[in-house]
Amino acid sequence: MKESPSHGIGVFAVVDFKRRTKLCQYFGEKISEEEADFRQSKDSSDVIYMFRLNNGDIIDAKNSFCIARRINHRCRDANCFVKENDNRELEVITKRKILAGEELNIDYMMNSEEGKPPIPCFCKSGYCTGSIDYCAKFN
Ligand SMILES: C[S@@+](CC[C@H](N)C(=O)[O-])C[C@H]1O[C@@H](n2cnc3c(N)ncnc32)[C@H](O)[C@@H]1O
Ligand SMILES: [Zn+2]
Repeated sequence: MKESPSHGIGVFAVVDFKRRTKLCQYFGEKISEEEADFRQSKDSSDVIYMFRLNNGDIIDAKNSFCIARRINHRCRDANCFVKENDNRELEVITKRKILAGEELNIDYMMNSEEGKPPIPCFCKSGYCTGSIDYCAKFN
């Protein structure tokens, strides 16, 4: 982990990874959508450590030691993705071959919070939409 040009701390590959390598789990506290909304409403920060499971529950990694929580967002052409396995765990998997030194990133596919302005994106992808919670723009 080190400082990232996109935001704060990021995660960087120290060795090469093949396409479709399981890198780590995105783990943390499992909470309901209502609890997640409540926590978000109390938190004025733009730094969000939550990932949604298919059943609507949320994994909040804010206070966890999970390295995956430091992986930054990249619009559309991210080199990793998050997949839920049969045990309702979130796994970070490489989307393509990644070379040592590259920053790992995930397309968060987030919706912006109602009443909150979009969070500006600094991913520098050619597909960058300008905000990490761009999904809402197309809803
Ligand atoms: C899971 S954290 C990622 C790790 C974070 N860089 C850190 O230092 O803890 C997610 C937050 O990082 C920020 N972030 C991630 N990717 C970003 C990007 N491409 N541009 C701007 N901010 C980003 C946003 O505030 C987002 O809510
Ligand atoms: Zn972007």
